[in-house]
Amino acid sequence: MARHNGLVVCASSFSTIDKQYSQFEQNFKLLYLINDNQDLFENSLDYLLNKDPNWNRYTIIQTPTPVKDHKVEYVFEFHEVVSKPELTNKDINFYMIIDSTIINSIENWHKFNKFKRKFKDYSLALKLSNEDDQINKQYLDLWLTEAISFIYVPNKIKSFEFFKIFQFKSIPIPLLIMENAKDHEQVCLIKSQHRASPQFYLKPLQPLVENLSIGIYKQFEKDQTKYNQFAEAFELAINDLLLKKIPTIKILLIGPGNGKLLTKLWNIIKTNLDKFEIDAIEKNPICIGDLKDKNKKLWKSKIQLVEDDLRNLPGSEGDYNLVISELLGSFGDNELCPEILAQFNQPKPDLIMIPGDYTSYLQPIFTPVKLNTIALIKLTNYYPNSDPQPVWEWQHPEPHFQSTKSKKLTFINRYGYKVSGFLGWFNCTLYGHINIQIHDDQAKDYCKSWFPIYFPVKPKHVKPGDNLVVEFHRKKRDDLIWYEYEFQGKLYNQNGCDYLMHLS
Ligand SMILES: C[S@@+](CC[C@H](N)C(=O)[O-])C[C@H]1O[C@@H](n2cnc3c(N)ncnc32)[C@H](O)[C@@H]1O
Repeated sequence: MARHNGLVVCASSFSTIDKQYSQFEQNFKLLYLINDNQDLFENSLDYLLNKDPNWNRYTIIQTPTPVKDHKVEYVFEFHEVVSKPELTNKDINFYMIIDSTIINSIENWHKFNKFKRKFKDYSLALKLSNEDDQINKQYLDLWLTEAISFIYVPNKIKSFEFFKIFQFKSIPIPLLIMENAKDHEQVCLIKSQHRASPQFYLKPLQPLVENLSIGIYKQFEKDQTKYNQFAEAFELAINDLLLKKIPTIKILLIGPGNGKLLTKLWNIIKTNLDKFEIDAIEKNPICIGDLKDKNKKLWKSKIQLVEDDLRNLPGSEGDYNLVISELLGSFGDNELCPEILAQFNQPKPDLIMIPGDYTSYLQPIFTPVKLNTIALIKLTNYYPNSDPQPVWEWQHPEPHFQSTKSKKLTFINRYGYKVSGFLGWFNCTLYGHINIQIHDDQAKDYCKSWFPIYFPVKPKHVKPGDNLVVEFHRKKRDDLIWYEYEFQGKLYNQNGCDYLMHLS
């Protein structure tokens, strides 16, 4: 931990500044000037400039409390104070420290955004105290998308909730910790580096052409909600098929992977085995040995296992009554589920497909995380500019199937000042009222094994109320499919230059 001792000169204790300053000359490399009273602050500045006109290392910190009902306007007045000509050629850092009273107001955030465009040499810092349980989480999220230079905390801060927030949001912020010095009125500032791990992201998977590893299947299997929702959908669909008095219900499961969906299916049919025939087709050779083993030990060799790509078996649509797959990417269609399942596009009266349909969604957002590539990421530090909108929908069977799609969306910018990209996800109906989705992590049907997909744009300044128009296209050439998107006159991922989905 780097420790930079410095002397904090509080303007409010100006009466002792002379004493403090002599201490500073002896012991400290940095001088911090903290203000909570404008007149005294101005006097302190004058004092320092007279005493030591060549001094060049002040760090001037502005705390806007307790002046003027904690309004951010006070900072503007402060700006006039520090615009003294004597200060302009000095290497001085100016910080605006905001505390909970400022954070808890969206108007203050708007004012701050206007202010920072005008006064670019200001940095932002947060001041936390032991009485900050009341900070409004929604407003804090907005402030945390700003570039924050440090957090200013008392030595004995009670609540470590804040630090958890910074860790969770992967915001690396130095801490300035107030420590009482032994026999002086002054306090020392200690600078330490709060480390946060960078935001983890990955390129979208392509299970059709790149075989998944065992590790990835194991990761999928931790998503209890996904498998439970599929199990509920199986039960509903099978009950409906049983009501139709079909003599033998024929089931096909495409891409069983490690077999967890087969186990869920097995648990439903195991007491009525004569009524069912089950086929499963998996193209990934590393799954086959395990599936064969499980078939023998767990599923009474009831499953007909085929190792192949479904598309190599023309006519494999057969006369199935239930076709099950889980070929969904984070944006719904980006692992090419519509193309893989194309041979089932002819609707049949006794055919149920799980999933039944899915819709892709997009939402414009701003995040300070620097990411210039289309990626899967669970963003922790961002704000949405507007509500999400549906982009396009797929159904199974899809009688009017074509791979290409286009959609123009207009979002009204609710309150943000920048857009850095679009967050995408899917919402899927498995069967009946049983859904899975990957966006609302409070909802019963939220599945944690998918990260949303992020489509970045060059960060743009926008104003509240502006229309944010984006055109999204799903394009195809030969065996290649890609998304192209146009935002504010710039085309992204042209011809799939960043992200291409391969059919072979
Ligand atoms: C997203 S994983 C899902 C695995 C498993 N169903 C689960 O939910 O845990 C998709 C699986 O489908 C397989 N797959 C993809 N396309 C396929 C195709 N055309 N034919 C057969 N299997 C395919 C992949 O190898 C992979 O195992």
